[in-house]
Amino acid sequence: MSINTVMVIGAGQMGAGIAQVFAQSGIQVKLNDLQQDALDKGLSGIEKRLARAAEKGKMSAEDQTAAFNRLSGTTNLEDASDCDLVIEAVVENMDVKTKVFQQLDKITPKHAILASNTSSLPITEIAAATNRPSQVIGMHFMNPVPVMKLVEIIRAIQTSDETYQAIEDMTKQLNKSPVEVEDFPGFVSNRILMPMINEAIYTVYEGVASPEDVDTVMKLGMNHPMGPLTLADFIGLDTCLYIMEVLHEGFGDSKYRPCPLLRKYVKAGWLGKKSGRGFYSYE
Ligand code: CAA
Ligand code: NAD
Repeated sequence: MSINTVMVIGAGQMGAGIAQVFAQSGIQVKLNDLQQDALDKGLSGIEKRLARAAEKGKMSAEDQTAAFNRLSGTTNLEDASDCDLVIEAVVENMDVKTKVFQQLDKITPKHAILASNTSSLPITEIAAATNRPSQVIGMHFMNPVPVMKLVEIIRAIQTSDETYQAIEDMTKQLNKSPVEVEDFPGFVSNRILMPMINEAIYTVYEGVASPEDVDTVMKLGMNHPMGPLTLADFIGLDTCLYIMEVLHEGFGDSKYRPCPLLRKYVKAGWLGKKSGRGFYSYE
């Protein structure tokens, strides 16, 4: 199938990045958010990143303008009625996601594929909430999307081979590297990454070392580009907590219990970089 028009739902850090890479790959993209201010912020972030890439000589001024012109913003979900592919990147919450998928199932053309950028939630359950489960799939981009090469593609138990193939081809068209993964909690990426981040938080919670020192150990000792606590702030502490809860519930194993300090920070509204405070301060 050919994918010409795409909608990305949620104009936060992931949705805006996803919309940008589609626009840069020559595809018409509609970026949707419930909130007009979130949409404006998402679009202006894309505009700034494209301008910076042109300034650095990574793309021509014509390509910069053409990419931005392929983008439009909307707060109306009904605008998905002519889309071949919709990628959902709203908050990591099953109730919110299934509601969005049920609405999209009614609005989009029959052939459209509905993908989720969820970090950990079961694609099989999201698919079951629609009347087109064979056309539902996980398309998990990494943060920051314009930079990171990986897309984890998650097959729900109901996903058809045709849907899988279309998404794998699309991923390659975006100049990203697909990896096929079965639908189990946290998939591969977050099943491995998030327990490491949670353990780093326990290390601070138990007074073993400061956040700065934990990060220095992992950066200089293991050559990680960011320490785990800087990375947690970058991902969003609310998202980290949701993922740990999905792992904990999904596997029923106490090794995935979220650190109480992570819970406390999220309850305080200290969500990391996006809220101005997490393990570090961004004011
Ligand atoms: N958005 C878009 N582009 C960004 C960016 C952002 N937020 N931050 C940095 N970049 C770009 C810069 O523009 C720069 O691009 P050019 O080379 O084209 O000029 C490039 O990235 C390098 O940036 P910097 O030199 O400023 O910084 P850096 O070398 O320290 O790299 C980084 C920044 C790429 C973010 C690096 O620190 C890194 O790789 N960190 C780890 C990221 C990671 O682990 N991501 C996965 C998170 S987990 C996930 O996504 C899954 C999930 O479900 C939670
Ligand atoms: P975010 O908080 O930055 O953005 C979410 C956006 O969705 C907000 O702008 C919000 O207004 C909007 N939204 C909420 N409900 C909506 C709805 N019903 N319709 C339209 N818009 C709605 O979150 P994020 O970090 O971009 O994460 C989004 C998704 O991507 C989550 O499922 C998360 O697990 C996943 N993800 C996150 C990362 C990461 O590093 N942050 C990496 C990979 C995947």
